[in-house]
Amino acid sequence: MLHQGIVIEYQAAEEGNDALLFGPEAEYVRSLGSESRKGEFAAGRIAARRALEQLGLQKGIAVPRSETGLPEWPKNIVGSISHTRGLAVAAAAKSDAAAALGVDIELSTRALKGALERRVLSEEERKVIRGEGAGLLAFCAKEAVYKCLASLGAPTFWFREVTLKNMPPLGENPSQIDCEVTEGILKRCGLEKPPEVLIWWHKEFIVSLARVYG
Ligand SMILES: CC(C)(COP(=O)(O)OP(=O)(O)OC[C@H]1O[C@@H](n2cnc3c(N)ncnc32)[C@H](O)[C@@H]1OP(=O)(O)O)[C@@H](O)C(=O)NCCC(=O)NCCS
Repeated sequence: MLHQGIVIEYQAAEEGNDALLFGPEAEYVRSLGSESRKGEFAAGRIAARRALEQLGLQKGIAVPRSETGLPEWPKNIVGSISHTRGLAVAAAAKSDAAAALGVDIELSTRALKGALERRVLSEEERKVIRGEGAGLLAFCAKEAVYKCLASLGAPTFWFREVTLKNMPPLGENPSQIDCEVTEGILKRCGLEKPPEVLIWWHKEFIVSLARVYG
């Protein structure tokens, strides 16, 4: 349990993971061409299933993929999945603990292309978020915010619609990032304030979680 009712589970993308899927998950994985995509999808679902068990749900619940790509969580559960370079993470909570979650994982050595880094951080943000890897940390946090708000019906939005106010030093325990989200996006999601954003290390990965309270 990460904190306040949120469960985080990790799963390595290993050969044979896709054989552990069933129902609509297995059907979807069979439709995929690339072995690496199969591996990451399966790892995400295994992590999701473990998270659901931690929340007290019965074993073996499938988390199908909706037409828009969002995972379809069981009734009264919210969650999010992310994967990168051999590792998947799933976050889940009961809907009285969270109204929406978004998670993102990035390999800490990933180099963001200059053009992407320039899109992620505004001049204003650069004054407070500096140093090596600043762009990647901001990218990870903003992707988590996007996934959280997308699950509440936000239209596609880009990095400049989220403003990070700080970037704490990373540790194994989550640290909080303060953020602002444009009025229009909040309104589309029926929110008065932006999600709470956390960020931490997991081995050689950076993980960020955005959460709207239930
Ligand atoms: C959806 C999106 C955020 C996925 O990010 P990604 O870095 O490619 O991949 P991740 O591994 O982190 O996440 C993929 C998982 O997100 C979930 N997902 C897919 N579409 C989603 C959506 N619209 N909203 C929330 N989650 C979504 C799925 O579980 C998917 O994994 P699966 O297909 O194996 O089930 C990205 O593709 C996208 O559409 N971005 C556009 C908006 C954006 O990035 N704006 C900038 C941030 S402010």
